Amino acid sequence: MAPVAALAQVHRRRLRVALSAREAIREAPTCRALAPLLGSPVPRSSEDDHVSDTIPETANDPAIGEARAQDDAAVVALWTACGLVRPWNDPFDDIRLCRESGHGVLLVARDQGRVVGAVMTGHDGHRGAVYYLGVDPAARRAGWGRRLVAAAEDWCRARGLPKINLLVRKENSGVLGFYEALGWRDTGCVCLYRALDPDKAEVEAAQKAEWAARVAAKAGAGR
Ligand SMILES: CC(C)(COP(=O)(O)OP(=O)(O)OC[C@H]1O[C@@H](n2cnc3c(N)ncnc32)[C@H](O)[C@@H]1OP(=O)(O)O)[C@@H](O)C(=O)NCCC(=O)NCCS
Repeated sequence: MAPVAALAQVHRRRLRVALSAREAIREAPTCRALAPLLGSPVPRSSEDDHVSDTIPETANDPAIGEARAQDDAAVVALWTACGLVRPWNDPFDDIRLCRESGHGVLLVARDQGRVVGAVMTGHDGHRGAVYYLGVDPAARRAGWGRRLVAAAEDWCRARGLPKINLLVRKENSGVLGFYEALGWRDTGCVCLYRALDPDKAEVEAAQKAEWAARVAAKAGAGR
C-alpha cells in the first residue's frame, strides 16, 4: 500500500477510536469524568440507573473479570485518558487480536458495576506479558492497579508460566516506582522490535518521529 493511502487508513482508524471513545463516555458512567479530556459534553445515560455486573470474575478477585465486547469502547476511553494510546496502535485492533489469539485476555476492574481499570495479558508460549494497564485517574491510589496486576499474574500463573514481562515507555518512567512496589524488577535486557508490514512500518516511523518531537517540545516548554 502507498504511504499516503496507509496514512489515510491510519487517520480513519484514529477517527473511529475518537468517536468510539466519545460514545463510550456517553454509555459508561465511569468515563463521564473523563469527558473534558476528549472535549465531549456528556449527557446523562440510562446506564446511570442500572449498571449490569455480570462479567465472569477471576478466581481470586470478584471485582475483576474478563471484559465483554460491550465494554471495549469504555476501556479504550479509559486507556486514552490514561495516556496509553498512541497513533500507531489501534486499541480496538489490539483487543481483537488478543481475543482471537486464544492465549490472551482483557481484564477489567469494576467498582459498583463501573469500569475503573483495565489490563491486557497473555503469553507467547514462554513468558506472560502485560499491556495496557490503566486505572481511571479519579480512582487511583486505591489499590486497583495492584489488584489488576495481581489478576494478570494469576491468569499467567494458572497457565504454568514461570515469569511475566512488561514494557515501560521511557517517557513513562515515573511508573517504575509502582511496579517496584509490587515486586517487579528490571530485566537488564534491551527490548528490540521490528514492524513486520513495510507499509505500516513507514507510516509508524513518521508518526513516532512526530510524537517524539511533540514530547520533546512539551518537556522544553515545562522547563
Ligand atoms: C500505574 C497505575 C496503573 C497505578 O494504579 P493505582 O490504582 O493508582 O495503583 P495502586 O493504588 O494499586 O498502587 C499500588 C502501590 O503502588 C504505589 N504507587 C502507585 N502509583 C505509583 C507511582 N506512580 N509511583 C510510585 N509508586 C506508586 C502506591 O503507593 C501503592 O503502594 P501501597 O499499596 O503501599 O500504598 C495508574 O497510575 C495509571 O493508570 N497510570 C497511567 C497508565 C500507566 O502508566 N500504566 C502503566 C503502563 S506501563
